[in-house]
Amino acid sequence: MKTVIRTWIVNGKKYTVEFPPMRRLLDVIRETLGLKGTKEGCGEGECGACSILLNHEPVTSCLIAAGQVPDGAEILTIEGLELTHEGQELQRMYVAKGAAQCGFCIPGMLVASYAHVTGDHPDNSDAALREAHAGNICRCTGYAKIIEAVSAAAERLSHEDEDDDT
Ligand code: FES
Ligand code: FES
Repeated sequence: MKTVIRTWIVNGKKYTVEFPPMRRLLDVIRETLGLKGTKEGCGEGECGACSILLNHEPVTSCLIAAGQVPDGAEILTIEGLELTHEGQELQRMYVAKGAAQCGFCIPGMLVASYAHVTGDHPDNSDAALREAHAGNICRCTGYAKIIEAVSAAAERLSHEDEDDDT
């Protein structure tokens, strides 16, 4: 079977991987790279469980053929969030607010939260936070606590920014 070789920066480290070009990025992340924190839910781009950041943009990795991802691409998965201050703060708040329940949708939720709080001038209104997580489904209806957690993390992070500016 024809394969392609790519070198990517995944969670800050360089990896060279080989795979059939039409293999889903989700499968390369989970099976080839062994990063199983990224989950498969629907497999059709509708639930957000497979969310990652690709070149700083949130994407559903189940819909992307890995062969489309060029050399040098930067990938951040749920495992990589742990390495960032914002990711740690979000995880702390998810736990503090009781937002983490099933553990299945939460990795994708956290990636969406991270993309929001690290964006340029994030709007942290309730409506904007809901919009930022609209592509991520929580089947146990934990949305209220999830939004509460992100809101609390965003507020703490924005105060840190203000302190840094003084
Ligand atoms: S598994 Fe990719 S969006 Fe549901
Ligand atoms: S916390 Fe995963 S479905 Fe609600």
